[in-house]
Amino acid sequence: MQGTERGGSSSTGDIGARKSDHLDIVLAPSLASQRAASGFARVVFEHVALPELSLAEIDLSTEFLGRRLRAPLLISSMTGGPERAARINAHLAEAAEELGIALAVGSQRIALEGRASGGLDRSLRRLAPSIPILANVGGAQLVLGYGRDEAERAVDMIGADALIIHLNPLQEALQEGGDTDWRGVLAAIEALVAVLSVPVVVKEVGAGISGAIARRLVDAGVHAVDVAGAGGTSWAAVEAERTSDPARRDTALLFAGWGIPTADAILGVRQACPEALLIGSGGIANGLDVARAIRLGADLAGQAAAGLASADHSAEATALHFRTVIDQLRVACFCTGSADLAALRQARLVETPATG
Ligand SMILES: Cc1cc2nc3c(=O)[nH]c(=O)nc-3n(C[C@H](O)[C@H](O)[C@H](O)COP(=O)(O)O)c2cc1C
Repeated sequence: MQGTERGGSSSTGDIGARKSDHLDIVLAPSLASQRAASGFARVVFEHVALPELSLAEIDLSTEFLGRRLRAPLLISSMTGGPERAARINAHLAEAAEELGIALAVGSQRIALEGRASGGLDRSLRRLAPSIPILANVGGAQLVLGYGRDEAERAVDMIGADALIIHLNPLQEALQEGGDTDWRGVLAAIEALVAVLSVPVVVKEVGAGISGAIARRLVDAGVHAVDVAGAGGTSWAAVEAERTSDPARRDTALLFAGWGIPTADAILGVRQACPEALLIGSGGIANGLDVARAIRLGADLAGQAAAGLASADHSAEATALHFRTVIDQLRVACFCTGSADLAALRQARLVETPATG
């Protein structure tokens, strides 16, 4: 994600160091206790004792950005600081290609402005020729000088099928030197959507997108909304961990549980935008959460932090991690008697979430 001093005085090296801090903090177990609830625990499927299906024949495939996915899964955007990012991105790309799932890269700001590509070049597409790859820039950058050229370069650099614009106002507000003038971001998104050569996806980064905001984004021409709700990675908690300033830490901690729980965000966006392509993410811990997100109205689910440790390790570990998530989703389909994702969307729930 982004975060510059106003006037662009922060160097690419500073951003790289911050991204590396982010990785270490997200990988540390201490953050888990500060999580908000995703709301998925309230989504309980009714067990089907007679599925009348073959587990192996359950069809998890779906269409995304004109390509066929073998499972409705997106590896969500993660940046990592130049030295580690290249390795992590390669592992993610190899695993995504092997499994036939989509891959979103982290913010390309360092690659666009600095010298280090962090693996964000055409090598990514060579590792993953058949899956949807999504480029990534920050919404705040769109009012700080980024326009069509930068967006096209971000897409082109990795041969992407779509561009993600991430919205992270909470993180920017809490981060030292964050980009805190967000006037004009929606208009800039609308202007970019009108001229960009690929579809635009807008996501949050862990605080969620409401139905009303999603409606404005879709009306502005955005192709898909990724709620990235509360319940997983909390950037307020990450910033609290990073800062050495006690007052800044107190403020960051105050907002550690802030945001729209992912389950509520999915329901809200689906209600406000029945026609929109919707990605459910934020605190997707396993394949059962993927099933829950889809049951609540998501077209696919995205996962970031839970896959990070495996991506830091190897392509094999990454593939094993996401294969396990897919296997868990398949079991959820089996035990709800769902032959495919359309059937899963109709599966009976024991408890209905309050807003459902
Ligand atoms: C280490 C790390 C780096 C991230 N960097 C970015 C980024 O550069 N751009 C972005 O849009 N989101 C970024 N995110 C946010 C994720 O894409 C995702 O929206 C958020 O972490 C919530 O999903 P999760 O609970 O599965 O982690 C990052 C997340 C992590 C864990």
